[in-house]
Order: sequence, then C-alpha cells, then structure tokens
Amino acid sequence: MTVLVTGGRGAVARALIGLLRERGIAVRAASSRPEDPDTVRCDLTDPSTFAAALKGVTSVLLYAEPSHIGAFAEEAAGAGVEHIVLLSSSAVLAPDAADSPVARTHLDVENALTASAVPATTLRPGSFASNALAWSRTCGRAGRSACPSPAPTATRSTRGTSPRPPSPCSPIRASAGARTP
Ligand SMILES: NC(=O)c1ccc[n+]([C@@H]2O[C@H](COP(=O)([O-])OP(=O)(O)OC[C@H]3O[C@@H](n4cnc5c(N)ncnc54)[C@H](OP(=O)(O)O)[C@@H]3O)[C@@H](O)[C@H]2O)c1
Repeated sequence: MTVLVTGGRGAVARALIGLLRERGIAVRAASSRPEDPDTVRCDLTDPSTFAAALKGVTSVLLYAEPSHIGAFAEEAAGAGVEHIVLLSSSAVLAPDAADSPVARTHLDVENALTASAVPATTLRPGSFASNALAWSRTCGRAGRSACPSPAPTATRSTRGTSPRPPSPCSPIRASAGARTP
C-alpha cells in the first residue's frame, strides 16, 4: 500500500505524512514545487505530472484544485488507485455554494470525483482552528486582532435563552493588566 499525499508543503499534508510514516505506511509525498529529492512533482494544474506521481499508488490525499480534476481521476483509475480522499470544505453546504468562488472550486472537484471510477471519500471541514495563528500575528500591544469581522455586540440574556457565545472570528481583546508570555 502506498499513499500519495498531494500538496506536500501544506499544513494538512505535512501532518498527514508524519502520521502515516509513524504508522509504518508507505507514503509518496508530492508537491507542485518539491523542495527535496524525496518529494515527487505533482502539480494539480499540470496533467503531465500525474502519471509519474500516481504510478504504484493505492490511495491519494487530494487537495481541491479543479482545473484538471477529470484528467487526474482518469489517470488515477488507470494506475489502479483504489481510494481518493478529498480535502474539500463545508462551504459546499451553503445554499449559494454554486455562486461562491471558493465553494464552487470544491464542488467541482467533488462532482468530478463522484463521476469517476475511483471510490472517493470527501472531507468537508469548517474553519481550521489553526487559522487563528495568522490572526495572532496581528495582535500587538493593543491585544487586538485584525480579523475582518464586526466587533461582538453585547447580547442580553432573557428568560429561557442563553447569552450568545462570541463568534470564533471575534476580535481578541487582552484584559487590562494581562501579561503576554
Ligand atoms: N483553512 C481553513 O479554514 C479551511 C476550511 C475548510 C477547508 N479547507 C481546505 O483545506 C485546504 C488548505 O489546507 P492546508 O491548510 O493544508 O493548506 P496550506 O497550508 O494553506 O497549503 C496550501 C496547499 O495547497 C497546495 N497546492 C497549491 N497549489 C497546488 C497545485 N497546483 N497542485 C497541488 N497542490 C497545490 C499546496 O501544496 P504544494 O505547494 O506543496 O503543491 C499546499 O499543500 C484548502 O485548500 C481547503 O480545501 C481549509
């Protein structure tokens, strides 16, 4: 069994490669821009890179890049791939998903895989908690993030209802006197 992990420089791919190797599972790391000789080039926008990346592979972790997904799925089927796991997004569940550029990207890949001969599993995560790491860089002395969401508004608790929790995208404010590590 060999697992091809596309998008090898990405956060999810790097974590997965480590976990698979810890479990003794053969991994072929792939990247559109490989940075070491052990990583194969697989640029999901360049079908000429698919055959070499997929040779001898049984499973694939696939990033959602729609431009040549049909060719990728066809090449995977021809190579004998038994299972593709797609890193999609919960954005596809929105009622207006087809009109949203981000959701549409993921939907197009999901639909192409559904139509392909290779069994596929689709993961639809919501917002990654690790996104907060990027926001945290904007938290300086003011203790406030530049997250582009409206400031949270106070909500009053009324009988039978609970106060609404702050949005996960609420600006972060340090309390007076709080020390940063
Ligand atoms: N962040 C969120 O809150 C969130 C929420 C829901 C879903 N998602 C999904 O998770 C993905 C982000 O995962 P991540 O955090 O691991 O990504 P990341 O760290 O931002 O890295 C971006 C990834 O895209 C890959 N990539 C870009 N162009 C490519 C190409 N032409 N061919 C192959 N791979 C390409 C890169 O791989 P190489 O440069 O190595 O090729 C890299 O793995 C999103 O694309 C989305 O599908 C994210």
